[in-house]
Amino acid sequence: MSIEALFKLHEGLPRGGPGSNQSTSEAIRRLPALPAAPRILDIGCGPGQQTVVLARELHGRTTAIDVYPPFLEACRTEAQRAGVDSLIEVRDLSMDAMDFELESFDLIWSEGAVFILGVEAALRLWRPFLKPGAIIAFTEATWLTEDPPAEAKEYWAQGYPVMATAEANEATAKTLGYEALDRFILPASDWTDEYYAPLKERMDQTSDSADPDMAATIAEALREIEIFERYGDSYGYVFYILRKSA
Ligand SMILES: C[S@@+](CC[C@H](N)C(=O)[O-])C[C@H]1O[C@@H](n2cnc3c(N)ncnc32)[C@H](O)[C@@H]1O
Repeated sequence: MSIEALFKLHEGLPRGGPGSNQSTSEAIRRLPALPAAPRILDIGCGPGQQTVVLARELHGRTTAIDVYPPFLEACRTEAQRAGVDSLIEVRDLSMDAMDFELESFDLIWSEGAVFILGVEAALRLWRPFLKPGAIIAFTEATWLTEDPPAEAKEYWAQGYPVMATAEANEATAKTLGYEALDRFILPASDWTDEYYAPLKERMDQTSDSADPDMAATIAEALREIEIFERYGDSYGYVFYILRKSA
């Protein structure tokens, strides 16, 4: 499996990972009061579904960053289609090389992209860009039980060995200078209907499945779906809402 094949498989899909506009709106509803026109940073924006919801509901100037040009283009197109492009700046910028002014954001958002660095590194690296007392909200694959089934544990030990429970993630956040405000588990439909269904359709239609990299990527995605179908009640995506402590 290669990262290029993975990106290619996801090109043109509405989302890059589990999630839904309803869950984005639910997380926004749970935020504490923000300034009238908050400065927002959306990290790993992908095709921009959540970027548009953020701009539409919070009316803030929103910077969306990603490193894959087709996703950046899709995010721009989505913002135009929704009529919020005047609020959104899309930038080709890596989450581990951000050059923003320090303490410049009221809200950092990241759906399905924290795993690229891991919770600890992401929260450590991004904290300086939050204003004092500002908010970070992100989704992250999370164990929902202390004692997951052996096969699920084995699968994720290969795929994402640092996956932790919500309690452990919030404890990590605390040591890094955050206060946990709220969290909720994304519904299973955010995986199955919103993410896996379009992904399965894409896998059925892809013309380069004979390419060994693409074939391996498809096999891996099918295995991931199978594991979710069998053990999806032992792990899930959790939406975390944290505040930068003084
Ligand atoms: C699972 S997708 C989530 C996309 C989007 N937030 C969503 O939920 O649909 C992860 C995203 O992170 C982006 N990404 C990967 N490495 C990155 C990096 N170093 N800096 C910024 N974005 C990155 C990928 O291109 C991809 O769009």
